[in-house]
Amino acid sequence: MTDQMIPYCDPIGCAAAGCTATVCTGAGLASNTTMFARSKAVIPGGVNSSIRAFNSVGGEPYVVARAKGATITDVEGTSYYDLVQSYGAVILGHAHPAITEAITAAVVDGTSYGAPTPREMKLAEAISERVPSCERVRLMNSGTEATSTAIRLARGATGRDRIVTFAGNFHGATDALLVAGGSGVATLGLPGTAGVPNASVAETMVVPYNVVPELDDSVAAVIIEPVAANMGVVAPVAGFLEGLRAECDRVGALLIFDEVITGFGRLGTWFAGDVRGHAGHHLFRQGDRWWPADRQHRRSGRHHGASVAARAGLPLRHALRQPARHGSRARCPRSAHA
Ligand SMILES: Cc1ncc(COP(=O)(O)O)c(C=O)c1O
Repeated sequence: MTDQMIPYCDPIGCAAAGCTATVCTGAGLASNTTMFARSKAVIPGGVNSSIRAFNSVGGEPYVVARAKGATITDVEGTSYYDLVQSYGAVILGHAHPAITEAITAAVVDGTSYGAPTPREMKLAEAISERVPSCERVRLMNSGTEATSTAIRLARGATGRDRIVTFAGNFHGATDALLVAGGSGVATLGLPGTAGVPNASVAETMVVPYNVVPELDDSVAAVIIEPVAANMGVVAPVAGFLEGLRAECDRVGALLIFDEVITGFGRLGTWFAGDVRGHAGHHLFRQGDRWWPADRQHRRSGRHHGASVAARAGLPLRHALRQPARHGSRARCPRSAHA
């Protein structure tokens, strides 16, 4: 299929707005409603991630044309202060010059190789430097992949099956963690969404947040958001994380801190470093053995450590090297180079 075979949304409006047959700025079909209706015809629910459909808040989503810094602009040209910031992924704000420059430079060298690169090594070094307890780093494409991998590693490393998670925490679209609590205080999980088999959550236990659960030696790992950010924002009460650490140590369970939202200074601290609790320190090393390198413990992915993403992460190391400060915004010099 050639470019020309893909129809314009509006042959006159699109061309006038500077769109091409394949590159859409949204300007040729300048209505959120029309755009979303058209998406719904080809994408289930009109979205590629369920939360974007606005079902829980009502209304229809705005359709994004572009974003810069703290603002986001929809296809109708309305700009908003963007409090979402890609759910925290855009640490320096949208289209930060240093990140844009890094991505632009990286794509010229190709986008994905299925082979190691110096960039991923440098990014891993930068992360280890920032988080001293993080002795080894595996780069994934998403939080979901990271948590599902951590769970599998925990089970492999301990030889146990049970996972403990906290009501209201979210760890991505992983079957074992898409779990709803039952009515009891600490209950074996029920599938939290259609399509998750009972068997996938049979060994997942849901317990209340901010209460240290009593564990036993069937538990492979406890996974937690150190500050819960998916049920509003709920801070851990004093001593909770430390108590959890001690209880895990008592029964030989691993403690996984999911810092997809809280990591890299967003909340002024890195909980793993403070409470000795991220996946890497305890999971990956057993004596001299590093679990992901074990052939029986495979976690492969064509795009893991992807060159462009790794290169884009590198300018962040300059920003992240600065001490994390509560309420402050990390700075990233435009001249930062990998
Ligand atoms: C705490 C937490 N962990 C994991 C995930 C999953 O990350 P991803 O959307 O990159 O799969 C999310 C997503 O919002 C999250 O909030």
